[in-house]
Amino acid sequence: MAKNNSIKKGVEKIIIANWKMQLDLKDSLILAKKMKSKFAKFKKGKVVICPDLVSLRDVGAILKGSNVKLGAQNVFWEEKGPYTGEISPRTLKDIGCEYVIIGHSERRKNVAENYEMIYKKTKAVLNTDGLTPIVCIGENWDERKTDRRDFVLAEQLQQALGGLEIFDNQRIIVAYEPIWAIGSGTAMEPQEADYAHKIIKLTLNNMFGMQILNKNFKVIYGGSVSSKNVKDFNSENIDGLLVGGASLNAEEFYKVADIITSK
Ligand code: 13P
Repeated sequence: MAKNNSIKKGVEKIIIANWKMQLDLKDSLILAKKMKSKFAKFKKGKVVICPDLVSLRDVGAILKGSNVKLGAQNVFWEEKGPYTGEISPRTLKDIGCEYVIIGHSERRKNVAENYEMIYKKTKAVLNTDGLTPIVCIGENWDERKTDRRDFVLAEQLQQALGGLEIFDNQRIIVAYEPIWAIGSGTAMEPQEADYAHKIIKLTLNNMFGMQILNKNFKVIYGGSVSSKNVKDFNSENIDGLLVGGASLNAEEFYKVADIITSK
């Protein structure tokens, strides 16, 4: 039987809104309602919103049965126990979450989250039926300037995912977010972004094989994407977007989703 040895192109794109800690509960609910109606007929790709922890449940109730899926911004790796302040994957699933962001660089920087924790969180989420991890990687400015980007990405993937056994029904999203591009207003150059996604996919191919890469993984870009530059990221190697600032306005986020899913 012929074996497929090439990276799959043209997969369904996913566009994920990361609201970070930008909105209070009231504004989160208002924006969730706007998103629900704006995306009511959107069928070109998957759309996910990740509000803050306190807003999750109410935003989930608004989005229930709609085209827009719910995601969390963090999770803990244990199922239950004396872990003050933490939330289990199962509880996130119970309130309707289907996705969870893991290891965002803002958490790596502000609360010292490291790749050992990211590995444990990813494993716990993968083992929770119906919950998909969005694992963040990305180099900082210094690493990029000194030509270490590819090495850093491979190393981060190895630390976050190395040794995981991935089963048929499990999905993983790797979000490539160059740290220097996040919130800076300056996105990565399109050719460089395309190349970095290729490096990530080749690394995942080395780690898991082409079949698992094509079936179980998506690799998406994040960092200063807006309706003005989003068409630059419409490449076959980029399977979607993780959007911060431009996801705080329903019209703007819709434009981003509409453009990235246009042929
Ligand atoms: P910005 O789109 O605001 O640069 O944020 C990107 C990001 O960190 C998404 O997780």
